[in-house]
Amino acid sequence: MARTYTIETFGCQMNFHDSERMAGLLEAAGYARVDDATLADVIVLNTCSVRERAEEKLFSRLGEVRADRPDAPALVAVTGCVAQQEGGAILKRAGSVDVVVGTQAMRRLPELLEEAATSGTRQVDVNPYDDVSFPLGMAVRGDPVKAYVSIVEGCNDFCAFCVVPYTRGHERMRPATEITREVEEAVSTGRREIHLLGQIVNHYQDPDDARCDFAGLLERVQRIGGVERIRFASPHPRHVTPRMITAMRDLSCVCRHLHLPVQSGSTRILTAMRRRHTRGEYLGLVAQIRAAIPDIALSTDIIVGFPGETSADFEETLSLVKQIEYHSMFSFKYSERPATMSSKRLLDTVSEAEKTRRIVTLQELQREIQLRLNEQAVGTCATVLADARSRRRDDELSGRTSGNTVVNFPGNPEWLGRMVDVAVQKAGPHSLWGVPA
Ligand code: 5AD
Ligand code: SF4
Repeated sequence: MARTYTIETFGCQMNFHDSERMAGLLEAAGYARVDDATLADVIVLNTCSVRERAEEKLFSRLGEVRADRPDAPALVAVTGCVAQQEGGAILKRAGSVDVVVGTQAMRRLPELLEEAATSGTRQVDVNPYDDVSFPLGMAVRGDPVKAYVSIVEGCNDFCAFCVVPYTRGHERMRPATEITREVEEAVSTGRREIHLLGQIVNHYQDPDDARCDFAGLLERVQRIGGVERIRFASPHPRHVTPRMITAMRDLSCVCRHLHLPVQSGSTRILTAMRRRHTRGEYLGLVAQIRAAIPDIALSTDIIVGFPGETSADFEETLSLVKQIEYHSMFSFKYSERPATMSSKRLLDTVSEAEKTRRIVTLQELQREIQLRLNEQAVGTCATVLADARSRRRDDELSGRTSGNTVVNFPGNPEWLGRMVDVAVQKAGPHSLWGVPA
């Protein structure tokens, strides 16, 4: 009987996609997937370290895994960002772990599992391999409608709060020919929406063709027959060029949504964060984008309670959010991440209670804005790509508009993967509801 594996994923889309790749590597090595961890011969925990809570989740899950199977333990592999950063220290802290594989050594997972199983010795590889190629067609895609395609790995920006340059290494670009081949493969297996992934996607530059930047890549992906929608995450405001804005405006498959992490509305805090954009520059950029693409939906990431953030700085964040009116937002309380510049050089001055107060205030404001924006859609017709069954009701489907708003509607599961026109009848802060038009 084939040996079995399961993968549990924490964190971002990049991690989700790494799990799809590891699933492919394991299946090529003869493992079969099971969903129930208590039945698996191999349990892979693909970890995230971007915020403190994500890391704690790993260690509590490791405790559970061990308690589930006291007599016949599975082989346990820890992969991803925590693995990269903690390396062998994980073996000391968690006795149940057999293999630790960093973000750049992922392709060695089957080999290291084999080694651990046959020799009974615990294996660690957190070496920084530069190779960003991956065998075409090997990833086991977990979504029938959307395909994740990595274009840039790592980051050289070193924002003061961010652990990513330490967990994902320096920036490496994938050749455009490899990217387009993977997009063709994804389309040939039925995927309609392509998500281009990278830490700073819009810093993309084809290593083999000086003329192909991020805008050029969008053009090439759009030309591939069968691609209906293109999304990407995450861009950095500093690398939004006029060429990129024009490409987004002119390319019909590129969704009318831009995630533009601002992090703070105070120039003083942005400087301390080493973001290299001011409040004024960011607002100017938003004005330029909206002038070119009036119907674009914007979303953002915001950190509250960065070291030294005063009430006045936080008020500036609130006023920026009011002014811009984002369609959605991810907000976080600052937490110290190992090795980052802010953890080494700045004191975490804002109390936990104050961080909580600020995030609650920010989220209340954002909720009002989202509700107001969503209510404007009532009475209109929204074109959505049906991408999932609704989480709330069996006879409903869910999809997203080009602007990335979730729309739920009664529908037949056969419509998954199709564009559906929905007459919007109701709005909430997080989604719309309607009936097929
Ligand atoms: N503390 C809080 N939030 C953080 N993020 C990244 N690092 C930290 C940290 N140390 C947030 C940023 C980033 C998002 C992915 O996570 O807002 O854009
Ligand atoms: Fe988490 Fe960042 Fe790693 Fe993604 S890249 S898993 S967000 S630490």
